Amino acid sequence: MSKKILLSGVKPTGKLHIGNYFGAIRQFVANQSQYDCYFMIADYHALNSVQNGPEMRSQILELATDYLALGLDPKKSVIFKQSDVSAHTELAWIFDSITTMPYLMRAHAFKDAEAKDKEINVGTFNYPMLMAADILLYDTDVVPVGQDQKQHIEYARDTAQKFNNLFGQTFKLPDALIIESVKTVPGNDGRKMSKSYGNQLSIFATDEEIKKFVMSIVTDSGSGVPVNVRAIHELLRDKEYLDRLYAENAGRYKALKDALAADLMAFIKPFRESREKFAKNPKKVIKILERGAKQARKSADDTLERAKRNVGVTIS
Ligand code: ADP
Ligand code: TRP
Repeated sequence: MSKKILLSGVKPTGKLHIGNYFGAIRQFVANQSQYDCYFMIADYHALNSVQNGPEMRSQILELATDYLALGLDPKKSVIFKQSDVSAHTELAWIFDSITTMPYLMRAHAFKDAEAKDKEINVGTFNYPMLMAADILLYDTDVVPVGQDQKQHIEYARDTAQKFNNLFGQTFKLPDALIIESVKTVPGNDGRKMSKSYGNQLSIFATDEEIKKFVMSIVTDSGSGVPVNVRAIHELLRDKEYLDRLYAENAGRYKALKDALAADLMAFIKPFRESREKFAKNPKKVIKILERGAKQARKSADDTLERAKRNVGVTIS
């Protein structure tokens, strides 16, 4: 029996942080044997914000290197970039045509973007349609993502259903895979860890950067337990261990922060060292993406052809 299909992606918009790792990439790595996996670099999604050629090139290479250093294995999984498979943008156009503006205006990401800047670009508005195409082109069963992406997976499901109702059974409905215990990793200010808030810790941080980050975590006075310190600690240690540690050190925030810093240093070190090796050979990284694109096209082109036939634009 063939394996189920898993697909996910990350935008090449900056260094990966521990929120990205625990919320998404760790699930990518862990599922590589159980599923047929596709891991994408969402460069066309990033184009909404990265609008500088050299910067885009370097961010793509950085993310591909990060993927490999964190354990994505090109022998097991297809690792590719979105722009190499033109079926993604072509299918997104078909989806645009069957989707209404009010429906897209209900997306949280659109509302957030519009609240910050009224003149958002059309790519940001259409974001969920390109993401639906990313997912549906591979007959994907599961999509591992952080909690904040849940609505986007629902948009992909709705769009598949709408298309199937209009044109006949074409797309499989995907499910999100969200790890309940992780959900949202907090940053040093207690809000969601995010590049856009500048509150993050790189998953490849040096010991100095780790210390600086941990010391800057905001702590509330009074309860004896620094909630934000413990929330990050929970990613690394089990409950029993932490219950004891935090009880023994109640109110001693410096000691608890030191313990967290030591655990983070031990956790991050192998990733940092592995990354240094991959970073020495960018040509190899580029080759891996080229090979991945070839593999991805095989599956995506078949699905697109099926969709075009059902839409009626393929007439032969
Ligand atoms: P950022 O918010 O830093 O720009 P992205 O939107 O690029 O991060 O997220 C890439 C992946 O990492 C997504 O699957 C997202 O859900 C997950 N992710 C991002 N931040 C967190 C977080 N703080 N906690 C858990 N998962 C996260
Ligand atoms: N929107 C996702 C994010 O911001 C990135 C992404 C693009 C994605 N296409 C995808 C994730 C397809 C899962 C599946 O993190």
